[in-house]
Amino acid sequence: MKALLFSEPNDPLYVGEIPTPQPKSEDLLIRVEAVGVNRADLLQRKGHYPPPAGESPILGLEVAGEVVAKGDAVTKFAVGDRVFGLVGGGAYAEYALLDAGLAFHLPEHFSFIEGAAISEAFLTAYESLFTLGQLKKGESLLVHAAASGVGLAAIQLAVVSGVHVYGTAGSDKKIKALTTYGATAFNYNDAHFLEKLLAQLGEKSINVVLDFIGAKYANLHQKILSIDGRWLLLAAMGGRELALDALTLVTKRLQVRGFNLRLQSLEQKRKIKVRFEQNALPWLLHGGIKPIVDSIYSMTEANAAHDYMASNQNIGKIILTWKDLKK
Ligand SMILES: NC(=O)c1ccc[n+]([C@@H]2O[C@H](COP(=O)([O-])OP(=O)(O)OC[C@H]3O[C@@H](n4cnc5c(N)ncnc54)[C@H](OP(=O)(O)O)[C@@H]3O)[C@@H](O)[C@H]2O)c1
Repeated sequence: MKALLFSEPNDPLYVGEIPTPQPKSEDLLIRVEAVGVNRADLLQRKGHYPPPAGESPILGLEVAGEVVAKGDAVTKFAVGDRVFGLVGGGAYAEYALLDAGLAFHLPEHFSFIEGAAISEAFLTAYESLFTLGQLKKGESLLVHAAASGVGLAAIQLAVVSGVHVYGTAGSDKKIKALTTYGATAFNYNDAHFLEKLLAQLGEKSINVVLDFIGAKYANLHQKILSIDGRWLLLAAMGGRELALDALTLVTKRLQVRGFNLRLQSLEQKRKIKVRFEQNALPWLLHGGIKPIVDSIYSMTEANAAHDYMASNQNIGKIILTWKDLKK
């Protein structure tokens, strides 16, 4: 089968031939129609984020396609079903293995492109905000990198849950888009951004912070988090070393929690999927929230798609599809 390969870290992706994977008892083998691009793919290509043990070395964490074969323990899916779901790797290929416990039926009214824009972003956002963060109606949330795939998923899930949502992003175009999704947003490239944000929100005003940045805003978070505030760290794009004031953490009873979806065990991921399916999927199926697709590239343009993501311009998900190769 065809797959996107690279030789050394930072080398360009190219279309090569590798053996088609064979489904184990609980796997679906799907013909890949669309794949969501993630920051993690860029990191993996740079050699910084190797796949967990036992996962495919091929890039790609979320996928949509049609079931072409299945393992003998799979009962909820049939050959020919349209599905989407979460994979530990292997999606940048013509065929991919998808654990049946991490697969969803693709609703009739969703395209494969939309299906590929859901799993990694929404499961990450749901699990961190509501399971780890215990975010509740009437509380307030600050999301950084708010126009990212995960950021927009988080904003939509929080808004539909009755949460007051604030976000940061790096361009006025993103700020405008975030406003349409119900967030009050701040451009961190504005002069005096931090002072303005603090002045508008006030100290002790935010119940939950969804943080992909790390060091850069550690001081801000210790100021704006409320008593019993939850600070959820999902990445460290702005530096790894947090300067923490122990007395602030103690007196405000702050919780600092880390989360990583890909590194969870299969069992844990299946549970996360079920929690999302039971509590949030209905909003996707019947309105309220939706996958937000910024742009679509063919698999042969994957290098351009990665360059575009690295330029920080996307608002929502970038999707790859094999369409041009199948013509
Ligand atoms: N822990 C987990 O399980 C998990 C799962 C999925 C994703 N993530 C993380 O979630 C984040 C979003 O992922 P995604 O795939 O949705 O990303 P994405 O759509 O590529 O968006 C990332 C955005 O982050 C901002 N950014 C980039 N570099 C930055 C820097 N050095 N400092 C501050 N902001 C920066 C940029 O927006 P602005 O500059 O406009 O804000 C960029 O557009 C990533 O950090 C990713 O690693 C974590």
